[in-house]
Amino acid sequence: MVNVHDLTLEEKASLTSGGDAWHFQAIERAGVPGYMLTDGPHGLRKENSEVAALDMKNTVPATCFPPAAGMSSSWNPDLVREVGVAMGEECVQEDVAVILGPGVNIKRNPLGGRSFEYWSEDPYLAGHEAVGIVEGVQSQGVGTSLKHFAANNQETDRLRIDARISERALREIYLPAFEHIVKTAQPWTIMCAYNQLNGVFGSENHWLLTKVLREEWGFEGIVMSDWGAVHDRVDSLKGGLNLEMPPSFSDDEVVIAVRDGRLDEKQLDAMAQGMLDLVEKARAAMEREGFVFDKDAHHALARRAAQESIVLLKNEGGLLPLHKGTNIAVIGEFARTPRYQGGGSSHINPTKMTSFLDALEERGASYSFVPGFTLDSAEQDPALTAQAVDAAAAADVAVVYMGLPEPEESEGFDRTHLNLPAKQIELLSRVADVNPRVVVALSNGSAVQMNPWQEDAAAVLETWLLGQAGGSAVADILFGDANPSGKLAQSVPLNLTDDPSMLNWPGGDRVVDYGEGVFVGYRYYDSFGVDVAYPFGFGLSYSTFEISDVEVEVTGAVSASVSATVRNTSAVDGAEVVQVYVNPADSSPVQRPVHELKGFKKVFLAAGESARVEFELDNRAFAYWSEHDGGWRVVAGAYGIEVGTSSRDIVSRETIELAGDDFYAELNEWSNFGEFKKDPYGSRAVERMFELGASGELPTIPEDNVGVQMFLETMPINSMAVLFGKDGKRLTQFLLEEYAAERARA
Ligand code: BGC
Repeated sequence: MVNVHDLTLEEKASLTSGGDAWHFQAIERAGVPGYMLTDGPHGLRKENSEVAALDMKNTVPATCFPPAAGMSSSWNPDLVREVGVAMGEECVQEDVAVILGPGVNIKRNPLGGRSFEYWSEDPYLAGHEAVGIVEGVQSQGVGTSLKHFAANNQETDRLRIDARISERALREIYLPAFEHIVKTAQPWTIMCAYNQLNGVFGSENHWLLTKVLREEWGFEGIVMSDWGAVHDRVDSLKGGLNLEMPPSFSDDEVVIAVRDGRLDEKQLDAMAQGMLDLVEKARAAMEREGFVFDKDAHHALARRAAQESIVLLKNEGGLLPLHKGTNIAVIGEFARTPRYQGGGSSHINPTKMTSFLDALEERGASYSFVPGFTLDSAEQDPALTAQAVDAAAAADVAVVYMGLPEPEESEGFDRTHLNLPAKQIELLSRVADVNPRVVVALSNGSAVQMNPWQEDAAAVLETWLLGQAGGSAVADILFGDANPSGKLAQSVPLNLTDDPSMLNWPGGDRVVDYGEGVFVGYRYYDSFGVDVAYPFGFGLSYSTFEISDVEVEVTGAVSASVSATVRNTSAVDGAEVVQVYVNPADSSPVQRPVHELKGFKKVFLAAGESARVEFELDNRAFAYWSEHDGGWRVVAGAYGIEVGTSSRDIVSRETIELAGDDFYAELNEWSNFGEFKKDPYGSRAVERMFELGASGELPTIPEDNVGVQMFLETMPINSMAVLFGKDGKRLTQFLLEEYAAERARA
């Protein structure tokens, strides 16, 4: 195994940039190979050409699994892991050492251009699902690249915008998905974000890449740049970035910087050693020869993944599932030309493609098809409407495939509104006029406006983007061969203007302020009682379930366990996702969301079957990030534990008392009386002050003067001179000395 000390300065520098757009730099003399790394994230996007091509779609065939918009609705980490394993196998076949994904940035606003590639508005869900991709891929001996670290939550001005985020919002919302995955699965690589975070580019951010990622979380892998995100090789290396991608052919700058002392050679060594370690980790898989993945098995897995990605939003009168012989009118071009993934660097060239029409053919369904509309922005063609109306009138059920045309959702830009194309909505209304039995199947990578058009649909399936086997999966669900079990990983607002980030979206003047702080998505809607079209965590099933016998037990000062029984009360096999939310302590010193997701379990239950589910809640289930103390705090107090099936369908709420983390920030002259009284040492100092006041050794504070007492309570002790002159100054001095003495005695 090559060690960094066996290499020349020039060779070490060369390891810290790519050989070309999609390879590490090799050092032949030392036997260091230049393995390939490539996109990601919901399948392999390996370009046919060696040079970063402008034709992003010219790539080798690979299984196109559902993008994260779909997979995230599965709430099934085991399934996600299976997909990861399959993606890892495809990497091995294609000699790819690292696949670039998953992307776990938070869906701060539904307009975000890469929402379809990201997992959730909730960091707990995003982290606990996407970790499966990392574990699965890496189980095959190839690496992942967790991206985009951090705060790439919009596409507008993404290459240079400065995302200004409080440390609390970062720690509670924007970082935990990364943190969880780093701590539990050690992704081999992490990709930095293009944008700046609080004034520092992702590629140079020492606080993020070194202090938080490596020193606090214990990250052992390498950090690479997003494509073209490095602006200064030396600053990036200093910040903790190992690899510039693609190369800017500036390795000599690194050599010079070491020679003239601007870059410590030890830092270069550390960064280069990371690259050597990475190559070693991948070597066994890259030297495997002749491995061929099972295309059919992967397609079948893509179909299963797609089934679990579909969310049944509405099913009036139990219209679904359809009887096998139902005569359906299929309306909408998407049924023939599926919208199955988003645009940009994640575009996969599928090994096979099953549209909804293909799936109906395969199963010999009785159907007619009319396109209904074109997938462009042209005006509606009245002839297409007329055909659709005729077809709907003649059928038992109309399945209307609606959605966002491909050019509307891509990396590189944000959407500007939530609306479906007007011509689709108009068509739906005409169809509903002649046949009330309308099922809408939606294809979109992020939330769309649902009202008022959904009144024209008896049933609505949110199918997101489903990858290459989506057509079969939708047919499976429609005819009841699969039971819907997807749950929303993002809230669907009634109106875009309800979204809490809209006040600061997408920023301007190269700056975006995350003014809503931790109140992202349901954290805002549920805290402030804002109605939504569909809440976070929501999704219907053909089965019915009952949750009962919830038990909550305090297991420590900052931990608890929760268990519940979930029963399938129907005659249909199905799956329910039991969700645990925590209400903050009544004594919280900061404003917190009314509840936050801290556990979930998807349970598959045969008709009539029941199961017990258990959850362990650790300190992070209760903690908030204290800006003042610079750390996680669990205050003593009463916390609520909610068990339910969406953020708005809570079936049980129990209160527990936690002792808290016993953390007391050090007191100083800026602490107030109230804080002194709550602190174990501070309170003794206060007691002593009154004792000595009574015995005449110290000036006294009038204990019976309520006004003075109230004032003191919230006043930093360094202001006592204002109230009591010289005496006050003496008291301040005494409290500080006595507090220090008490601490020293402990
Ligand atoms: C994207 C990354 C992607 C990279 C390589 C960048 O523009 O932001 O997500 O992995 O290109 O294609």
